[in-house]
Amino acid sequence: MEKKLVIALVGLPASGKSTVASKLKQCLEGEGLRVAIFNNGNVRREICRDFDSSCPYFYAPDNPEGVSLRNKIARINLERAADFLTNGGAVAILDATNVSERRRQVIKDFFPEVPVFFVECINPDPELVAASISRKIRLPEFSHLTPDQATQSFRERIRHYANIHEPLAHEKNFVVLDTLHNTIGREQVQALLPYYPIVRDLLVSDWVRNLYLVRHGETAYNLDMRIGGDSDLTVHGLVQAQALAWHFADIPLPYVFVSAKKRTLQMTESLCHGRPDCRVVALPEFDEINAGVCENMTYDQIARDMPEIHAARTRDKYAYVYPGGEGYITLKDRVERGVKKALFLSGNAEHIMIIGHQAVNRMILSHFLFRRTEDVPYIHIPQDRYFHITSTQSRKVFELVKFNG
Ligand code: F6P
Repeated sequence: MEKKLVIALVGLPASGKSTVASKLKQCLEGEGLRVAIFNNGNVRREICRDFDSSCPYFYAPDNPEGVSLRNKIARINLERAADFLTNGGAVAILDATNVSERRRQVIKDFFPEVPVFFVECINPDPELVAASISRKIRLPEFSHLTPDQATQSFRERIRHYANIHEPLAHEKNFVVLDTLHNTIGREQVQALLPYYPIVRDLLVSDWVRNLYLVRHGETAYNLDMRIGGDSDLTVHGLVQAQALAWHFADIPLPYVFVSAKKRTLQMTESLCHGRPDCRVVALPEFDEINAGVCENMTYDQIARDMPEIHAARTRDKYAYVYPGGEGYITLKDRVERGVKKALFLSGNAEHIMIIGHQAVNRMILSHFLFRRTEDVPYIHIPQDRYFHITSTQSRKVFELVKFNG
């Protein structure tokens, strides 16, 4: 008989639980299992009036009415999950905070025959928490508040949960997952926990269904072979941007990540025109390699005026660090951090785009596709094509696609 499993997420609001739940569902369904997510927030929105349950006091541990309503919501989902498992479901995912031991005990008592695996999500980065909150406050339940009020209200909600949070310790099966870095801090798992090998592997893997990795179009600096700086797209670059927009006209793009440089943002102007749902997020982690003392120089000028830099970089381009700037070797960490941030913020969206730069895109490609380090600085990154990347447990695809005529 097919094994049954309950996966109960644990974690403060905005810690990445729903993204993990959705990845788990897709991955386990790919294994032919019937999987369903039971999200307490959705039940709350079904049974409470929006504005009542969005107010922070609703979440206060000393508000008896709020506590009882939240227990009722949890119970509804436990019953729905039990029904699902009885009627052919294999894995029920409980997507809720479950931060107190008492709540976790209720879950364990509710499923005496089915193993419960707790996955605690921790988001260690205040900047990402802020970005995540700014996404949450776009929900209709905050529509009666200004963005500042909504942010304050959401932060207060988090504080209420933090006050009753008790770390996982007495559960038989659990992992504590850093959802930004995809690393597992603590874990305790009994042998024979069903589906554990695949779930464990998934939790630490980057999972991306369709990542479109684009380089900005032609700039004035590109024409001169001048490096760094913050130049604008040329007329030809703008034509490339338009071609990109046409190419993606029928593909939903809820998230487009760019660097803090003008040339990447300019690529989004036609692309996001007429797409009210497209969010453009500038991440400085995707800024082009900083060439330090060589910023704004042409390659010829560097070879002529700073021959020792030219020679040293030619000898070992990956390890060479520009004086006062960066090298591929030092770029790696910040670009990887950008990738993690983008994946976290996009919340497992089906399609995401990153518009980056030559060196940055080389690092992003090598993050997903193994390349020997010494070859990374030579990966060809054209301006009229993009890399379509799929990287899931069961599918790894890299395709270079032409978008410009
Ligand atoms: O030439 C465009 C550019 O993006 C520069 O700004 C950057 O310094 C360079 O590419 C990185 O490529 P490489 O490492 O091959 O010099």
